[in-house]
Amino acid sequence: MSLLSDLTTIVAAGFEAAGLDASFGAVQVSDRPDLGQFQCNGALAAARSAGRDPRSIARQVAAQIESDHRLASVSIAGPGFINLTVTDRTLAGCMDAMAGDERLGVSPVEEPLNVIVDYAGPNVAKAMHVGHLRATIIGDTLKRLFRFAGHEVLGDVHFGDWGLQMGMLIVATRRRRPDLAHFDRSYGGPYEEPLDVTLADLQAWYPEMAREVARDEDVAAEARRATTDLQSGRPGYVALWEHFVRVSRASQERDFSDLGVEFDLWYGESTVRDLLRPLVDDALARGVAVRSDGAVVIEVSRPGDKAEITPLVLETSHGAFLYGTTDVATIQMRVADLRADLILYVVDSRQSYHLEQVFRAACRAGLSGRTVMEHIGFGTMNARDGTPFKTREGGVLRLGDLIEMVTDAAATRLEESDLAAGYSRAERAVIARQVGIAALKFGDLVNNRTSNYVFDLRRFTALEGKTGPYLQMAAVRMDSILTRASRRGLAPGAVLPPHHETDTGLVLRLLQLPEVIDRAMELRAPNHLAEFAYEVAADFSRFYEACHILTEPDPGQQASWLEMVRTARRTLELLLDLLGIEVPARM
Ligand code: ARG
Repeated sequence: MSLLSDLTTIVAAGFEAAGLDASFGAVQVSDRPDLGQFQCNGALAAARSAGRDPRSIARQVAAQIESDHRLASVSIAGPGFINLTVTDRTLAGCMDAMAGDERLGVSPVEEPLNVIVDYAGPNVAKAMHVGHLRATIIGDTLKRLFRFAGHEVLGDVHFGDWGLQMGMLIVATRRRRPDLAHFDRSYGGPYEEPLDVTLADLQAWYPEMAREVARDEDVAAEARRATTDLQSGRPGYVALWEHFVRVSRASQERDFSDLGVEFDLWYGESTVRDLLRPLVDDALARGVAVRSDGAVVIEVSRPGDKAEITPLVLETSHGAFLYGTTDVATIQMRVADLRADLILYVVDSRQSYHLEQVFRAACRAGLSGRTVMEHIGFGTMNARDGTPFKTREGGVLRLGDLIEMVTDAAATRLEESDLAAGYSRAERAVIARQVGIAALKFGDLVNNRTSNYVFDLRRFTALEGKTGPYLQMAAVRMDSILTRASRRGLAPGAVLPPHHETDTGLVLRLLQLPEVIDRAMELRAPNHLAEFAYEVAADFSRFYEACHILTEPDPGQQASWLEMVRTARRTLELLLDLLGIEVPARM
């Protein structure tokens, strides 16, 4: 159900009647609104394949479809573009149908898939930094989008809670706190809790330890031993690890909740720990994996590869499983237990090589079945000088601090513009938080996902232009019109044919929703949603300037315009919800 698909059906039939393939009839929104609202470029391609003159094909198709009652005009331009404009009555009818539909005219997918979105990926003992921010924001939008489209979606945080880092943290803790019962082999528990090893301690110890491990083979061996002991279930180490996991997760959940992000699954790399040994042994037994210099590897290169892809190491010569091993085992679990049809990995583009190895390894090992695995990569968020965003001191900026920064910037903006001035302190704080998060999310999502972008707080928090706060203001304004109308006893009613440039513009815009959703899904590209939300708000504001809704004397016209406001508001609400942006109750 969409105007564009109806038009495509009409034009496709025109091509068929002209003895040409219906697929040439695809209609799109016009690039030249001065010539028509829609266009079809199919005559050019049809002419190439039929060896005919494109203009004559276009004329023939135009003659076929001209009489359709939904079309106000059909014309031909340039080498054979067919331009179409629909009647105002048709627009009104489509608008009414959209307004009357719960899903605003967007049909759910016919074949719902089990989709897993793997995103955020925080790690034990590390505060999340801006690198995790994009994964979180983009992943959350894709999760919401796929769910809205009708798929069964699970968002999994894929917590980094297993592997050598855990052994390193155990060694680091032992150095500072050798007295802890956790290190006494003769002690059988219970272990002290709360343990006074804080997340801040772990964060400080970890980088030091990492440097030492890289430098000193003895320390590296010690960390490996601790890891193996943990993995084979030494009780003191397990208790310590559980503590690490607990404090890390508590802090990360606070950040996620500030961002309005929730996960369906808080699985970690450790969730599949019992699958690792059998997976490797089985791959070896079947000859899929081989021993190479004491390690177990799985060959993943394929004929036709343009660049070499090295084998994925499943087990090191020291008997350790790696990041990639847990990733392969996680695929096994997601396919076998969660019955995933599609897994989206929303992970920094810099991990594309790793993920390619993992996907191929899972496939070679016969673990992925028909499940499709896709890396949804993204670029980095940079500072103005083009380098990855850091703190003023040059350190990695923590997500929690960043959230505070955008909230403060939003509060300043609100103050500058005299917004929310009369509200209580508490309400102003809530609004500043909502506006700050909107600025941050929209500033990210509006970019092409694979590009890098510059983090610019002034620009992101602007109340005018392509920003989150601008969209929130537009939504609040729509709400206020609807509230004022309803206080006067005015209700939205049947949509009349639009006749101003601005109400026609708004209707034409809103009717594009189904295609925008499709495109965003297909390309896994939230920027299409963000752009469209902006266009809706901008068209609405033009309409609102030109059409004086509340003072309109004709009640039918007024009710029709109110229905347009309501539908614009619902459309914006849907889009903002998909983008994870909340609208303040007032601003
Ligand atoms: N924890 C990883 C990191 O911080 C990201 C995890 C991405 N997901 C995955 N299945 N590998 O880099």
